[in-house]
Amino acid sequence: MDTFWSESWKNIDPKRIAEYVKSMDFAPDDMIRMLRQHQAKSVCDAGCGCGIYCAKLLRNGFSVFGFDVSEDAVQIAKRNAPEAELKTADIRMTGYDSDRFDAVISRDVLDHMTKENAQLALRELCRIVKPGGIVIFTLDFPDEEYEKEPHEKNTDGDFVYSSGKWAGMVFHSYTYEEIEQILPQTAKCSIIREVDHFIVTLRKTEI
Ligand SMILES: C[S@@+](CC[C@H](N)C(=O)[O-])C[C@H]1O[C@@H](n2cnc3c(N)ncnc32)[C@H](O)[C@@H]1O
Repeated sequence: MDTFWSESWKNIDPKRIAEYVKSMDFAPDDMIRMLRQHQAKSVCDAGCGCGIYCAKLLRNGFSVFGFDVSEDAVQIAKRNAPEAELKTADIRMTGYDSDRFDAVISRDVLDHMTKENAQLALRELCRIVKPGGIVIFTLDFPDEEYEKEPHEKNTDGDFVYSSGKWAGMVFHSYTYEEIEQILPQTAKCSIIREVDHFIVTLRKTEI
């Protein structure tokens, strides 16, 4: 998993990043609205990639932190979101103190891990968010390409890509029931189904 992402970010075409950043709509979206609704000020972007959403969070007035497993991604993210505090870390063991952030967001990261690792990651994200704070994450639905690229499906239902351009990548296509299976018990949850992805919001139980 980590090798796939490290290699992808190492070899990424800077032009592709520039186009992606240029295409970003910085106007508030559903995630930003949810963060505001919960009065979040400090927000951590878990698996921030090139930092595009960190830039959006900054533009919308949040105090932004973030990390990615790929050091190359973090270097790119620092250029796209210079005021954010960013580091290299694994989502299953981030190194932040407990109860650190008002909110943690994670876009299209947990669906690129095995279900078992996604469960560990969610436990960690709930650890670093404050009691009463929120964790918001998205899970993509598979398109034709996810089905077509050569992969094996393991007993947990994870797609493990064996060859081709996604060799080494993992994807899990979640049902409502499977999302419920990976949620920590210390959180209240709401699941919204959008056109092509789920948005899941967890509120960490107040002590
Ligand atoms: C599909 S990209 C999404 C990037 C970003 N969240 C966005 O919305 O543009 C998945 C990201 O998750 C990161 N990632 C994968 N496994 C990770 C892990 N174990 N810990 C932290 N980041 C991870 C990858 O390096 C990659 O940047």
